[in-house]
Amino acid sequence: MEVETAAVLGGGGGSTLRVLAIASGKGGVGKTNVTANLAVALAQRGQRVCVLDADLGLANMDVLFGLSPEWSLLHVLRGEKRLAEVMVDGPGGIRIIPAASGFDELTSLGSDDRLRLLDEVDSLDGTFDTLLIDSAAGISANVLYFAAAAADALVVITPEPTSLTDAYAFVKVLATKYGRREFLVTVNMASGAADAEAAFARLAKVTERFLRVRLEYQGYVPYDDAVSRAVRQQLPSVLAAPQSPASLAFTDLARKIAARRPAAPTGGVQFFFRQRLVEAAR
Ligand SMILES: Nc1ncnc2c1ncn2[C@@H]1O[C@H](COP(=O)(O)OP(=O)(O)O)[C@@H](O)[C@H]1O
Ligand SMILES: [Mg+2]
Repeated sequence: MEVETAAVLGGGGGSTLRVLAIASGKGGVGKTNVTANLAVALAQRGQRVCVLDADLGLANMDVLFGLSPEWSLLHVLRGEKRLAEVMVDGPGGIRIIPAASGFDELTSLGSDDRLRLLDEVDSLDGTFDTLLIDSAAGISANVLYFAAAAADALVVITPEPTSLTDAYAFVKVLATKYGRREFLVTVNMASGAADAEAAFARLAKVTERFLRVRLEYQGYVPYDDAVSRAVRQQLPSVLAAPQSPASLAFTDLARKIAARRPAAPTGGVQFFFRQRLVEAAR
C-alpha cells in the first residue's frame, strides 16, 4: 500500500519542490481560474510559483493572461527545449510553462520521452517552491499522467450533480489505477458555505464508501462576477479585485494549501513508481 500511494513529482528524496495537480473531471468548473489565482496568492505569500499548463488541447493559461509564448511544453516533450527555456512571466511574479496546444496525446510519446518529462519537472527543484499543474477536463491519459505523477491532487468541484459524478469518475480511476488514496477538494462557484459543504459531503460519502479514498476539504470559492470580470481584463481576480469574495476565498485557499504538509513518498520507490507511470500511460 505504501508503495502504491507514493508519487514521483515533489516530495521525494530531500526535494523541496511541491507539486500539486489541479483536476476536476468536468470542464468549466473553474480549474484554470483556481490554478491561476492560487498560484498568484501563493506568490503573494512569498513562494516561488510555477504553473504548468497541462491542458494539451486548449492553451487556457496563456489565453487567460494574454501571453503569446514562442515555445511551449510541446518543445519540451519533443526534447527540443528545457522546461526552464520555455517558461514565461505570468502575473503577480509567477512563471508559466505554456501548454502544447494542438498536441493531442501524451500516449503518442515513447517511454523515454515520458521519463524525460519527469526529469525535467524534477529539475525545477530548488528554483521553485510550488509547481501547480492545470489539467484538461476528463480522464484522458494526459490528465491521469499528470495527476498520478503529482505528489498532491486538488479536485475542483461545483455543487452541480454533473460535476460530482465526473469528479467521482476521476477519483475512481486515480484510486484504482494509480493507488492514490488522498485528494484535496475545493468547491467552486458555491452560493455559500452550506451549499459547498453539502456538495463536498455528497462526494466524500461515496468515495469513502466505494473507493476507500479520503477527501480533504479545502474550503470553497463563492460564485462571484469579479472572476469573469477579471478574466476579461486578462488578470487573475486576486490582482484585479483583491477584496472581492472570490479573491478572499482564493487567498484563504492558498493559506490552507501552504499550511498543509505535502504528501511525502518514501525515497526508494520512486523509480519503481516512475516505471509504473510509464507503463500505465501506454
Ligand atoms: N468563482 C467563480 N465565480 C464566477 N465565475 C467563475 C468562477 N470560477 C470560474 N468562473 C468562470 O467560469 C468559467 C470557466 O472557468 P475555467 O477556469 O476556464 O474552468 P475550467 O478550467 O475548469 O474549464 C470562466 O468563464 C470563469 O470566468
Ligand atoms: Mg481550464
